[in-house]
Amino acid sequence: MLYEGKAKQLFSTDRPDEVRVYFKDDATAFNGEKKGTIQSKGVLNNSISTFFFELLKTHGIPSHFIKKIDDRNMLVKKLSIVPIEVVVRNIVAGSLSKRLGWEEGRKLSQSVVELYYKNDALGDPLINRSHAAALGIATSSQLDTLEELGTRVSDVLTKFLADKKLLLVDFKLEFGLYDGQILLGDEISPDTCRFWDSATNEKLDKDRFRRNLGNVEGAYQEIWRRLGGGN
Ligand code: TMP
Repeated sequence: MLYEGKAKQLFSTDRPDEVRVYFKDDATAFNGEKKGTIQSKGVLNNSISTFFFELLKTHGIPSHFIKKIDDRNMLVKKLSIVPIEVVVRNIVAGSLSKRLGWEEGRKLSQSVVELYYKNDALGDPLINRSHAAALGIATSSQLDTLEELGTRVSDVLTKFLADKKLLLVDFKLEFGLYDGQILLGDEISPDTCRFWDSATNEKLDKDRFRRNLGNVEGAYQEIWRRLGGGN
């Protein structure tokens, strides 16, 4: 094992430029303060992330994804991680609602792109482009690429999910460098996105765990079902 995160483990492979991601059922919230497990989450997030990475590829958005190996394992390119989390928001929710006092559920007149410094000890603070430049964690042109890819991912997924009667409220992306190119990394799943049913606004994502709303596993299963998956 190379690394263990809150929801995944990374393993080396026979090839130095590829790693295996193992998706766990463990769930945390509030920077690890709340801990739990979500039955079958690892299996569902592996399938859901595979689906989204393949969809984005067909739209010319490059990621670390190589292939799904089995239920809980994915083969990916080994990235040198850019320590920035890119959050794209289309509807007000979560920390944006708290920070600006805006009502949850309000549609934003344009997408909001935020940068967070990926640093557990600091609790992943919100930063801006000049913080990122001063920290030396990304160049100006790399930041342009992160923001542009974030917006493109939002456009592709929002349109796709609308047909599945889902609203893409907001989501978090991570990126890394591979052969000098910026690739999308990490995962795209109900752990890292807010999905609401477009008819009822029912939450179908990790907010059910964060906010103790119940039926957490059912929400993840429902997302996979709407993407066309079985079980
Ligand atoms: P926030 O409203 O709590 O800032 O979350 C914005 C989006 O980012 C939401 O879709 C959940 C996702 N997210 C993560 O993937 N990891 C995190 O650690 C946090 C705080 C949010």
